Amino acid sequence: MTKVEMFTGKGGVGKTTMSVATALHYAQSGRTLLISTDPSGSLSEIFAQPLDQSIVSVAANLDAVELTRRLVLDLWREKFADEIYAVLSSFLPVGREIIDYIEGAPGIDEEFMLDYLLTMAQSGDYQTIVWDTAPTVTTLNLLFIQQLFYSHLTQAQKVYMKVKGVFSKVDPLTLIDKWLKLTAQIIELLKTDTSAWVVANPEHLPVEQALDIARSLTDFEIEVNGFILNKLLPLEVCEQHPFWLAKYKAQQECRENLLRAAGTLPVKEIPELSGKMKIDGFLGEVTKLLY
Ligand SMILES: Nc1ncnc2c1ncn2[C@@H]1O[C@H](COP(=O)(O)OP(=O)(O)O)[C@@H](O)[C@H]1O
Ligand SMILES: [Mg+2]
Repeated sequence: MTKVEMFTGKGGVGKTTMSVATALHYAQSGRTLLISTDPSGSLSEIFAQPLDQSIVSVAANLDAVELTRRLVLDLWREKFADEIYAVLSSFLPVGREIIDYIEGAPGIDEEFMLDYLLTMAQSGDYQTIVWDTAPTVTTLNLLFIQQLFYSHLTQAQKVYMKVKGVFSKVDPLTLIDKWLKLTAQIIELLKTDTSAWVVANPEHLPVEQALDIARSLTDFEIEVNGFILNKLLPLEVCEQHPFWLAKYKAQQECRENLLRAAGTLPVKEIPELSGKMKIDGFLGEVTKLLY
């Protein structure tokens, strides 16, 4: 079974950096897929090639794809639009434009991303999927609410049975039941084969947010591997100047807070590095520091 390792945390803390470094590490021992849902497009920049159309091989044993909102919605339409329309139009007087409305609903892209993740995990092509993401608690909430919703819909069987003759080509119940199973499989993937690293910078707010994220993940029964505290200033370079020394001390205070709150969870520490975030830049160094 494919293992999913996700990197989450506030924007700009270093999720993409840690994801790429980790993907390079796993690619040394098995086929690895790196999926990014970062809207900034930094993955394409790091590998110096467009990755936002389909999966591309970027290194030995390593494939990568950048799931932009547009790509996700196109794939979503391709896969679900007909079915959703079939179900809705079976009991509502709606036209095809209903799909445009649904596409604009909050969470659709993030939710479809999870479906994409499941498809990739089930393909059996990869030993590890590294997932550069920031799934909001809302998305995860949606997933569970949606499962409830679908199960209620399927329980409304009796009503459907009465009007069954109305449906010509499709049976909405079968479709709803299929979605319900799909949602259950996604939840299963997240709960049993996924683990998360929460990335933070040594500042008050990012640390608090990281702890929050870790708590929500635990509530959703997604395993938390630990924290990565990124961009720590080294003492040697701060000692010389009062401004940097004050910054260093403030960082250390946040670091200690995180170490305390993390309890038994490991905290990996990565210093502030110089150079470029490229394959031949500091990414190799980050891999060495992490593993
Ligand atoms: N340890 C580090 N030292 C120096 N720069 C870093 C470090 N980690 C990340 N960066 C830089 O910080 C910026 C944000 O990192 P990124 O991985 O893109 O964050 P995120 O994906 O969380 O938004 C990038 O420009 C990256 O090169
Ligand atoms: Mg990023």
